[in-house]
Amino acid sequence: MPKTKGRGVLKAVDGKIAVVININGVDKKLSVAPGEYLLDALRREGYKGAKKGCDNGDCGTCTVLLDGKPALSCMLFAAQAHGRKVVTIEGLGTTDKPHPIQQAFVESGAVQCGFCIPGMVLAAKALLDENPDPDETQVRRALDGNLCRCTGYVKQVEGVLLAAKKLKAAKKGRKA
Ligand code: FES
Ligand code: FES
Repeated sequence: MPKTKGRGVLKAVDGKIAVVININGVDKKLSVAPGEYLLDALRREGYKGAKKGCDNGDCGTCTVLLDGKPALSCMLFAAQAHGRKVVTIEGLGTTDKPHPIQQAFVESGAVQCGFCIPGMVLAAKALLDENPDPDETQVRRALDGNLCRCTGYVKQVEGVLLAAKKLKAAKKGRKA
């Protein structure tokens, strides 16, 4: 029976567990199987930005924010997210109105096939929320669980550093 962080023990009824997960700011009631992974539940609900790469905790493409921290959704049961806040890439920006981190990735040429990008952007967001002025080593450390098959990571590191500048400028009401 899945235990949830400080939220008691959930019970399965007819093989399903009723959970409430705050996804991108909205409380969603989901019916999940006890062994269903968060990644599968999210994708089933239409949050396809969380990508299934290795499905084994190795590549980072399934990264979401769980209570503000990067988490591998392929390694967490959906029931473990009960009562918690999940942010997927759909919660950041849109094509028309990208988040500054997404904009910075595009401007830096960090996006090739794009498969790794949602996870990278969310890992970057967690870093910049905690440390608005990271150095290159800190950026590399924050992204080191996110594999990319297309790039040499240089552009993505540049993207995060540019995003930091953009976010700082936006705070001050300037353009970066
Ligand atoms: S799909 Fe989750 S770490 Fe690769
Ligand atoms: S841009 Fe293709 S895997 Fe990273």
